[in-house]
Amino acid sequence: MNALPLPQRPAYLSGFGNQFATEALPGALPDGRNSPQRAPHDLYAELLSGAAFTAPRAENRRTWTYRLIPSAMHGTYRKIELPGWETAPFDAVDTPANRFRWNPWPVPETRTDFIDGMVTIAGNGSAEAQSGIATHLYHANVSMGDRYLLNADGEMLIVPQSGTLSVRTELGVLEVAPGEIAVIPRGLHFAVDLLDARASGYVCENYGAPFRLPELGPIGSNGLANARDFLAPVAAYEAGRSRATVVRKFLGAFWEVTQAHSPLNVVAWHGNLTPYKYDLARFMVIGTVSFDHPDPSIYTVLTSPSAVPGTANCDFVIFPPRWLVAEDTFRPPWFHRNVMSELMGLVRGVYDAKAEGFVPGGVSLHNCMMPHGPDVATYTRASVVELEPHKVDNTLAFMFESAHVFRLTRRALEAPNRQPDYDAVWDGFKAPPI
Ligand SMILES: [Fe+2]
Repeated sequence: MNALPLPQRPAYLSGFGNQFATEALPGALPDGRNSPQRAPHDLYAELLSGAAFTAPRAENRRTWTYRLIPSAMHGTYRKIELPGWETAPFDAVDTPANRFRWNPWPVPETRTDFIDGMVTIAGNGSAEAQSGIATHLYHANVSMGDRYLLNADGEMLIVPQSGTLSVRTELGVLEVAPGEIAVIPRGLHFAVDLLDARASGYVCENYGAPFRLPELGPIGSNGLANARDFLAPVAAYEAGRSRATVVRKFLGAFWEVTQAHSPLNVVAWHGNLTPYKYDLARFMVIGTVSFDHPDPSIYTVLTSPSAVPGTANCDFVIFPPRWLVAEDTFRPPWFHRNVMSELMGLVRGVYDAKAEGFVPGGVSLHNCMMPHGPDVATYTRASVVELEPHKVDNTLAFMFESAHVFRLTRRALEAPNRQPDYDAVWDGFKAPPI
């Protein structure tokens, strides 16, 4: 029985989008029907739907929960302010036709939990229209404890950069360290506790279609992120709390209520709408074994599709350790500009397209059709280096790539840690003497 305290070492169910069934109390799952007249142990049956009822079977996500108290039992929410966390439309400032890069954001000195410490960098689309994404950084130095969040605006992809998180959710507990990710479905109550003194990282708040594994096409049935490496939590519930503060994010505003029980009171559940975690070290990297680069879509871990086939509302893409063996090839990322917009972060190490200036905890943004690529130092080295097999190691960069152009927040545009001279990394290329 996983009543408070929750298990110190969470247990997991393996697979992506499987129909899982798990119970923290033996016999808590009803047998053969979803909402019997009286559920076992007199628990309350409650459905959480993450897709329209009539969505195609491959995209339909829902989970039945069996709980101590129906989620509906709460008082009237009152509005609160969380000024750092902003929501589309991002129209407070004009987004310049420039490239951007930021040093890490300053660490808060006052008590700051996961949601207090959210700072929005850029985003697109509309939470109301359920399209687009917002990108945030978080810094925390205290656990949320008896404070919980329900985000009705979007799914949350959390990319820790420092500090291990214990993410307590209605469906169980995920422990997530730097190098791993966690995804929390839209509308699921959760709380983030710290297992280290401080924690920081990145968040993609996905207003659009839920993240899923990309199609593999000619790659076949294996490779990239394998479904078995995605881990959903086993059921665990909090029965002992007598006071809980629940925060809801809805249409970009924050609302709060205090109640006498934890919203994490699900004793058993079954379904395919779950939070999950994934260790990015398990990503099977594919690359050329002859010459040239395949397109960077080979690095896609998860994709949120738009209504246009092959065009992502958001791709979550990583650049992990890998061997480079291409012959007669400029091996770092090439110069390019792209109809897609690219917001990058760095969990650890050095990104192979930049010699310096892009550091762990920092951010870069290359919007639609903004030219970018290797800086002068990287180009100069990589264009003459002897092309032995070479391992890019001890690095983990990632990208939130979107078909929708990123608009900056005022905070990001005016941040003292924005690098005003970013364009200069492409200064000094010389025309050949022809
Ligand atoms: Fe790019």
